[in-house]
Amino acid sequence: MAVLETKGLSKIYGGKGKGISVKALEDFNMTINEGEFVGVMGPSGSGKTTLLNILATIDSPSSGEILVNGKNPYSLEEDQLSIFRRNNLGFIFQDFNLLDTLSVKENIILPLVLEEVERKEIEKRVDDIATTLNIKDIFKKRTYEISGGQQQRTACARALINNPTIILADEPTGNLDSKASYDLMLSLERINQEKKATIVMVTHDAFAASFCNRIIMIKDGKFFSELVKKSNRQVFFKEILDSLSLLGGGYNENI
Ligand SMILES: Nc1ncnc2c1ncn2[C@@H]1O[C@H](COP(=O)(O)OP(=O)(O)OP(=O)(O)O)[C@@H](O)[C@H]1O
Ligand SMILES: [Mg+2]
Repeated sequence: MAVLETKGLSKIYGGKGKGISVKALEDFNMTINEGEFVGVMGPSGSGKTTLLNILATIDSPSSGEILVNGKNPYSLEEDQLSIFRRNNLGFIFQDFNLLDTLSVKENIILPLVLEEVERKEIEKRVDDIATTLNIKDIFKKRTYEISGGQQQRTACARALINNPTIILADEPTGNLDSKASYDLMLSLERINQEKKATIVMVTHDAFAASFCNRIIMIKDGKFFSELVKKSNRQVFFKEILDSLSLLGGGYNENI
């Protein structure tokens, strides 16, 4: 079943007295099915974050539409939209946005505390996600006492604690060294496989992308090509590198 669909999606920034207008996305179509782990790659400025922000219902399209489980979230009222986000979506962004006055554990459970979820249920969920992400031993630490990789995994745990069915991640390994990237990708792979979450991940990193089942390449705001994993990750990694060299457009300056 299609979980996410975009139909004729376009986004134009600026214009009409606001200076030069930029076509960030143009007639962009894609379909993502339940349980897929999809990577989105493309040169800097090709529209990846714009696409993710529209999917995350943070930014609205100029034309075209998105469907989440067959419904257009932009047709919802504001309060319904926030319930929709809370129940369905998990965001992992590049800047961790952790609160340094709280401990790691307090940061992770914050969304559930705000929702007044029962204490027992909170404990169960935080234990579960922290085990998956291997951060239980740093629960009591403040966010400035832990490494970048641990901060990223903490932010990841916070995004995932409400068991979202759709996870949107923008460069989740962007600030991580190779060991921390590897750990995070293994965690996302596990969440995709065990919890059947659908994941869409923007990345510049071919290694991180090799954990996906499918890669969508974007260029100049348009669909460029698609790669499907057929055998193992090592083979897929090489295929991704080959496709990236075809993509050109200053791609290499970002890796
Ligand atoms: N808020 C905005 N106002 C005006 N133009 C914008 C805005 N956000 C993005 N753009 C422009 O839209 C285009 C697409 O930007 P976007 O951030 O989606 O690219 P990206 O593929 O995520 O790039 P990167 O790999 O560098 O993160 C770029 O030309 C960018 O300058
Ligand atoms: Mg971006």
